[in-house]
Amino acid sequence: MARKIVVTSALPYANGPIHIGHLVEYLQTDIWVRFQKLCGNTCYYFCADDTHGTPVMIRARQEGIAPEELINRMRREHLRDFIDFEIAFDNYYSTHSEENRLFSEMIYQKALENGAIHTADVEQAFCEHCQMWLPDRYIKGKCPRCKSPNQYGDSCDSCGAHYRPTELVDPYCSVCKNPPIRKNSTHYFFRLADFEPQLKDLVDRGYVQEAVRNKLDEWFQAGLRDWDISRDGPYFGFKIPGETDKYFYVWLDAPIGYMASCKNYCEKDGLDFEEVWGSNEYELYHFIGKDIMYFHALFWPALLICAGIKTANRLFVHGFLTVNGQKMSKTKGTFITAETYLRYLHPEYLRYYYACKLSAGVDDIDLNFDDFLQRVNSDLVGKFANLASRSGPMLTNKLQGRLGALDQEGRELINGLQAEKDAIVADFENLNYSSAIRRIVALADEANRYIDQKQPWTTIKSDPETTRTTLTAVINAVRILTIYLKPVVPVFAGKIETFLKVKPLTMTDVDAVLEEIEIGVFERLVERVEKEKVEAMVDESKENAAPQQSQMELDEPLAPECTFDDFAKVDLRIARVSRAEPVEGADKLLALELDLGALKKKVFAGIAKAYKPEELVGKMVVCVANLQPRKMRFGVSEGMILAAGPGNTDIFMLGVDAGAKPGQRVH
Ligand code: MSP
Ligand code: ZN
Repeated sequence: MARKIVVTSALPYANGPIHIGHLVEYLQTDIWVRFQKLCGNTCYYFCADDTHGTPVMIRARQEGIAPEELINRMRREHLRDFIDFEIAFDNYYSTHSEENRLFSEMIYQKALENGAIHTADVEQAFCEHCQMWLPDRYIKGKCPRCKSPNQYGDSCDSCGAHYRPTELVDPYCSVCKNPPIRKNSTHYFFRLADFEPQLKDLVDRGYVQEAVRNKLDEWFQAGLRDWDISRDGPYFGFKIPGETDKYFYVWLDAPIGYMASCKNYCEKDGLDFEEVWGSNEYELYHFIGKDIMYFHALFWPALLICAGIKTANRLFVHGFLTVNGQKMSKTKGTFITAETYLRYLHPEYLRYYYACKLSAGVDDIDLNFDDFLQRVNSDLVGKFANLASRSGPMLTNKLQGRLGALDQEGRELINGLQAEKDAIVADFENLNYSSAIRRIVALADEANRYIDQKQPWTTIKSDPETTRTTLTAVINAVRILTIYLKPVVPVFAGKIETFLKVKPLTMTDVDAVLEEIEIGVFERLVERVEKEKVEAMVDESKENAAPQQSQMELDEPLAPECTFDDFAKVDLRIARVSRAEPVEGADKLLALELDLGALKKKVFAGIAKAYKPEELVGKMVVCVANLQPRKMRFGVSEGMILAAGPGNTDIFMLGVDAGAKPGQRVH
């Protein structure tokens, strides 16, 4: 009986483009979904953009646009890339949707009712300049162990130490470089540990692969900790019901986005959501990468169990992509976006190559360019496409495009191809694509041996009818191989369907044979990949990365471009420091009073470690006179003086001749 299946891939973040690493996942999933459909099963593939959180908020700020505008643009770009790679979602939605808000609120409400939520005060870093709370990754500073500068708030790239952001030496906000302050705020927590028995049960029932299970056992042993599901504003996300400035943490509503995408589809398609998502009539599978296991093997099922919603049948976890044996790298040009790839290469090369490499495990998979060229050229082009191009044109040109009947030998060849069906089906079902491809290549080898031995290009002159019999067998082999490869290379398969003048092929068509029919005109299927194209693609990825690469060597990426007009708005004036005082509670700040002749300004300057108040009074400085006043913890600052340096005692004021006149404009 046909199965009913719902499938999801992890929702890509809306703060960056789709790259060939992501594609491991979307292609793995798409091949599986296409395979299920090919077998006659009902299978829905749902996904969406993951739109909430701090990175999206910051990027939108930097681009000077609303987060909604950013996520709309990103979603369009993602969808374009997915379509170009023939990734056929049944619905591609957004977590910033009404459906998702309602589901998030509902699941949260259930958790509240079930006593699974508690609140607690948390001390956290806050940047007064950016006016935002800083996640660990947005605080940088010196590593407390090895003192390397510019390390993230959670771990040191240089010595590998793990620590808490509070332990960083001289911490600063990675956006604006100002030191953050620490503030208390109330957060909401989900009592994950309450669900340990049910989660263990889920694992016992085969929710995850063996390797993932081992990881989970480690986590169970370490003890499950409460999960902080709230973030204070400003934050781009869904407001927590009953709160004015607290939001759900992005990872709370992200997986709920799977449901929202399904719901949105059901609404459009007149399906019953409760049945599709909630009933056991449908199987449910999530595909994810190994970096997000904790969320999908613990938090997500725990939320569902708590809300009384069914959990997935299985979680399929895959490994990470490496390129030529190494992490994708912008410097090496191996951080290749989907868009760049498509400028140089056909999407089905990558679909085919990933299929050659993917198995059911969580091992990383390597894209090796030499291997890539080899597999595509010798197998996809040299074996499959060649089989068709060695038989199709001859049939059309010399034999009126008509198939004959199979003889004994032809039958044997075809029987051999049909006999592998169950094994190939099992391989696809179990995500052993590499094994499926190995079997299919071996079958293609047999068909090629057959044609080499029969020599139709010789017999065509003397014995056209025997040749027709030979080519009939070859065409049937092509057809069966095409069915097996169809989930992997759908466009290639479509061309063969047109050539054979058959309806879209399905898995059951493997058992039939084509005889005594007329076929269509052969169209070239795939070109060989040229090494130069791959090299050019890598080069362009380097070029793309060129500005970023030099930024990477900076302590922190450059801010968005400031136009000349922007810069020209800055009004610099000479000022005389008329008063200078330390600020209580802020050992880096001095409170200055600046005399600009006709007006006076109060300014807080972070120069206390470099200058003593008494040496400043009477000094001439340059000040940004038209800066918007800004409220700081100690009062309002009405301007800025020009002083720069790495920090602490190393800050230098721009010196001005004592004869300059306060209020005078400087350029
Ligand atoms: N937004 C989260 C997922 C939320 S799901 C409710 C996220 N997004 S992501 O854009 O970073 O990654 C999306 C998927 O792509 C993840 O499953 C991730 O593991 C996978 N990959 C991202 N980079 C990858 C590689 N370099 N290699 C293989 N898979 C990779 O995580
Ligand atoms: Zn900041």
